[in-house]
Amino acid sequence: MSIVYKEKEEQFHLHTRNTSYIIEVLEGRYPVHAYWGRKLRFTDRTGLVDLREVCSFSPNPLDSNKTLSFDTMPREYPDYGRSDYQSPALSITDSSGSHLIDPVYDSFRIEEGRSLPQGMPGCRLTADDGCDTLVLTLRDSILDLYIDLYYSVSEEYDVIIRRTEIRNCGNKPVTLNKVLSSTVDFYGDSDFEVMNLYGAWTRERQVSRIPIGRSGHLVDSKRGASSHEQNPFLALLRPETDEFSGDVYSMSLVYSGSFMAEAAVNSYGKTRMQIGLQEIDFQWQLEPSGSFTTPEALLVFSPDGLNGMSGIYHRLFRERLCPAPWSKRERPVLMNNWEATYFDFNEEKIKALIDEGHSLGMELFVLDDGWFGRRDSDASGLGDWFTNLQKLPGGLKSLSDYAHRKGMQFGLWFEPEMISPDSDLYRSHPDWCLHVPGRYRSEGRNQLVLDMGRQEIQDYLYGSIAAILSENGIDYVKWDMNRNITEAGSAALPSERQKETSHRYILGLYSLMDRLVNEFPEILFESCSGGGGRFDPGMLYYMPQTWTSDNTDSYERLFIQWGTSYLYPPVTMGAHVSEVPNHQVKRITPIETRGNAAMSANLGYELDLMKLLPEEREKVAKQVEFYKKIRRTIQFGDFIRLLPPSSDRGTAWMTVSDDGAEVLVFYFGHLLRPNDLGCRLKLRSLDTDRLYMTEDGEKYYGSELMYAGISLPPLDCDFDSRLIRLQAI
Ligand code: DGJ
Repeated sequence: MSIVYKEKEEQFHLHTRNTSYIIEVLEGRYPVHAYWGRKLRFTDRTGLVDLREVCSFSPNPLDSNKTLSFDTMPREYPDYGRSDYQSPALSITDSSGSHLIDPVYDSFRIEEGRSLPQGMPGCRLTADDGCDTLVLTLRDSILDLYIDLYYSVSEEYDVIIRRTEIRNCGNKPVTLNKVLSSTVDFYGDSDFEVMNLYGAWTRERQVSRIPIGRSGHLVDSKRGASSHEQNPFLALLRPETDEFSGDVYSMSLVYSGSFMAEAAVNSYGKTRMQIGLQEIDFQWQLEPSGSFTTPEALLVFSPDGLNGMSGIYHRLFRERLCPAPWSKRERPVLMNNWEATYFDFNEEKIKALIDEGHSLGMELFVLDDGWFGRRDSDASGLGDWFTNLQKLPGGLKSLSDYAHRKGMQFGLWFEPEMISPDSDLYRSHPDWCLHVPGRYRSEGRNQLVLDMGRQEIQDYLYGSIAAILSENGIDYVKWDMNRNITEAGSAALPSERQKETSHRYILGLYSLMDRLVNEFPEILFESCSGGGGRFDPGMLYYMPQTWTSDNTDSYERLFIQWGTSYLYPPVTMGAHVSEVPNHQVKRITPIETRGNAAMSANLGYELDLMKLLPEEREKVAKQVEFYKKIRRTIQFGDFIRLLPPSSDRGTAWMTVSDDGAEVLVFYFGHLLRPNDLGCRLKLRSLDTDRLYMTEDGEKYYGSELMYAGISLPPLDCDFDSRLIRLQAI
């Protein structure tokens, strides 16, 4: 049993394969956080948290016990206003205008398996995954408000999944101002560094790691999307933790909108780590009998460094977050026309690209932006989801038939959540976009954002997209989203509910995606938001892969894919070979290196194939052929980071197939250095006594590869790279 209730001690012990998490109820009232970390055994002992009386500046909530103050107490779900001066997990306003709440322990239940938060994505773990759920209920007796803390614990997947549900059983409405999904207090423990993934458009998920110090670290998005700027993830590491050893405590939020994550140490050395919905962008009117559910937070502890943490997320995301039909299904090598043509294409050009892609072994052609409405630039057409017959006189069907006849799949780009002011849709429904009456409607890329919380808008999008998908034999959809949210007001909500607009937007988006992916389970959906502006677990629940970044430069991609890999497995990352000079940074890198960077994830090509030189053509054909041989390992093997892009020796990572029989090592040199001896790269996770053979017939024992390392000769040119395939014999 992964959850044990110790009645006498009033403790809940949660155990995964490698982790324990312990909650104790103090004085029969206050659930406190006693422990999270390596799996351990306890004697039958109460008082796991040794509280002491402190000064009058830390007031006491009970007369009977002066050692109790929320200021020092490691709380399982902190509120605000009664001596807890750190960031609360919960903030409300009741009908009298007061924000006070006193949630005390009420009851608990343990359920087999788990249920997902209503209308939201989550991990599809069941009792068969050794998953049980503890629901710990707190209650404020004055408001008759219940707070259910959900903890799903999976032995097999080594994860604890938390979410919070608030139920209003009183007879007056309550306003929720902040409701986080998960919060953990580390009592008397502040020896941490804080890690998060930050960035911007075309430079997503860079790694930040800094000492926690004695102040707060806020990682958040207020953009109505999880964002390019911050990923919904936060980790606390011990200072000595590296890629291979040391403790990591992490939280990842299964949500695609504005969020916040925070780590802060208080004056008593208590570290609070939290994650959940962004507070500034949120409020919820909870009527009597109503309930509100937060998104879920995934809590992963690893004693085996950052690769240990990533391994847990990778398997969980691949097997229990992404849609089940795609958990083991190989992804096709695709060809996308965006950087090849931008908006400037016609039927003839597209057919020529299909021909060329097909002759090079590509398996899926993706027609990007510009095929619909009057869309010849980014200034018009979004919302008008009908084929532009001026550009494509034979319609989409003739193109998809053309690809299908060659044995290629055919995919299509959409940007469903947007509306161009210059569109038929906007002319008929000017109130369908997010806006505040009387105020300026800020455009981004000449477009406004649809109010996705409204049912009629979801229905319009469902109807038009479903018709195109079913009438035209579409095999793949790229779901884009190219601006962040402003003026988040809804014409359909009363004034007291306006601050619900952003969260309702995400719930509406989830509902629409849910309908479409269930209606078309055979279609491969790839999410995108100007590249990786919404690379988050929420999107992955519906769409099993994401376009990692609009930056296709193979050197920049090392940083982006390295950072992305902390949480997301290679099979979730779209990676394309593009032309040089690169369109984003003008850099010239070898075609081999562009291939190796893209082959580290889901390989695609996004360049004008007609312009390839004969020798490049040959190399591309070979890359595609080789990738098909190794893609099972790339897409479903265990990915391990070896050398970070910040290292002056180059960047390296490797993947080991699930049976251990194939090992792929990627090494990317950066700049050529004179008088260089090359690099010795030590591999990981091999079988010490097994013999491995390279493609050239060179044999090595696993111990040799791991402890002595493999020798890599000096680079031949700037941005040179190597891909070594080893097979166990
Ligand atoms: C942004 C995407 O990230 C690109 O790949 C491309 O699809 C454009 N949008 C099209 O407008």
